[in-house]
Amino acid sequence: MLKVRHVAKRFGGLQALSDVTFSVDDGQTVGIIGPNGAGKTTAFNVVTGTLKPSGGQVLFNGVDITGKPPSTVVGMGLARTFQQTSIYAGETVEENVRRGTLWRFRRSVMAGLLPSESRRQAWNEEMERIDEIIETLGLKDVRGRVAGTLSYGLQKKTGVAIGLATHPKLLLMDEPAAGLNSQESQEFGELITSIKARYKLSVLLVEHHIALVRRITSKIIVIGQGKVIAEGAPDDVLSNPQVIESYLGSRHVES
Ligand SMILES: Nc1ncnc2c1ncn2[C@@H]1O[C@H](COP(=O)(O)OP(=O)(O)O)[C@@H](O)[C@H]1O
Ligand SMILES: [Mg+2]
Repeated sequence: MLKVRHVAKRFGGLQALSDVTFSVDDGQTVGIIGPNGAGKTTAFNVVTGTLKPSGGQVLFNGVDITGKPPSTVVGMGLARTFQQTSIYAGETVEENVRRGTLWRFRRSVMAGLLPSESRRQAWNEEMERIDEIIETLGLKDVRGRVAGTLSYGLQKKTGVAIGLATHPKLLLMDEPAAGLNSQESQEFGELITSIKARYKLSVLLVEHHIALVRRITSKIIVIGQGKVIAEGAPDDVLSNPQVIESYLGSRHVES
């Protein structure tokens, strides 16, 4: 589904990524871990078109999307949530989720490519999908609340709901459980697993909660100083001496 090949990214004198290659298969949940500053968010930004790489290639379902703008990439079924919650704080939860729908629709359906009757029907289907997403994420009771007034956990869920509204095939999440306690992070893991099954998604997530990554992924990629230093099944990667030394050993590891 996603192939990242030899991606490099330079910021002035800083080589943030030097040679990053990995893939995500259809239906797979893949975790990216690594120390702060390793290049994880930069890799996400290259994949989603927020940054143009200085070298290498990104393929999504066989299509070369290297350097394509985020609006194009989202339209192809690749959505992301941001490390900092990226909701519209002054709008209600429902208005936030509708934005996800609009990103997709502005380009096709709403642009008049369909006759008005089909357009109305397509729009109604989207509104039903929004209701379903809001319900699935447990946001029903707060759908009319201004998003910026909600708890951090609910804001994070709103961010995921915006992503889901764009009809992703692959959902990228940058530290979705950051700032959550271990109980909330466990619940978030269950939520990711259930939305993945329900919406038939592949998931790529960057996360520091190792217990969460171990539980929900089938492959882990470790990035250190802009390079992939290990890749494989979670138990193998997390017991790899090089990974323990360069990353896990230096931090508190939750079991
Ligand atoms: N837009 C940018 N301009 C300059 N340097 C950047 C930019 N974004 C990230 N960096 C640098 O690139 C390196 C990798 O950052 P980042 O991808 O955010 O790491 P991670 O997400 O793994 O913590 C860091 O040294 C960071 O300071
Ligand atoms: Mg980051």
